[in-house]
Amino acid sequence: MTLPEQVLPSQPAGVLALRTIAMPADTNCYGDIFGGWLVSLMDMGAQIEGQRRAGCRVVTVAIDSLTFIKPVYVGDTICCHAELIKVGRTSMQFRMQVWTLAVEETERKLVAQGLFTFVAIGKEGKPQSVDR
Ligand SMILES: CC(C)(COP(=O)(O)OP(=O)(O)OC[C@H]1O[C@@H](n2cnc3c(N)ncnc32)[C@H](O)[C@@H]1OP(=O)(O)O)[C@@H](O)C(=O)NCCC(=O)NCCS
Repeated sequence: MTLPEQVLPSQPAGVLALRTIAMPADTNCYGDIFGGWLVSLMDMGAQIEGQRRAGCRVVTVAIDSLTFIKPVYVGDTICCHAELIKVGRTSMQFRMQVWTLAVEETERKLVAQGLFTFVAIGKEGKPQSVDR
């Protein structure tokens, strides 16, 4: 089910964590951009923000409510935005949004969003607390 336009945000939320361009190597068998590639970018963008916030290694423990809203095409600029929405004892949850900008267009489109939970990992490889 596609989300109704009125519930979609008109502006990105959070910080710009990662930016790149969709290349032909990132397509699926139909020639459109592969959803798994987008998820890996969202995961990486959240990791960058997570380790910056925690000041140590972080690992993905859960991905929830992931929705692909619009297709992405080769040549689009991909912007992953990270918004920290919850901090637990050792975990952090980020709302990740992917916005795209097509060549020769001026309006960004929200194409995917989801919740990414990370756990801070200490030197001994176990969860460690995150300063609130
Ligand atoms: C992340 C990991 C270290 C957590 O270990 P654990 O034994 O569950 O640790 P804990 O029970 O102490 O939980 C740690 C935190 O994770 C949270 N958590 C655990 N499972 C979760 C889940 N499914 N969804 C959301 N949060 C979860 C806990 O609520 C806790 O948060 P808090 O400290 O803020 O309250 C362990 O599950 C792991 O190593 N997973 C693999 C991670 C990984 O390799 N990711 C990359 C995938 S390729």
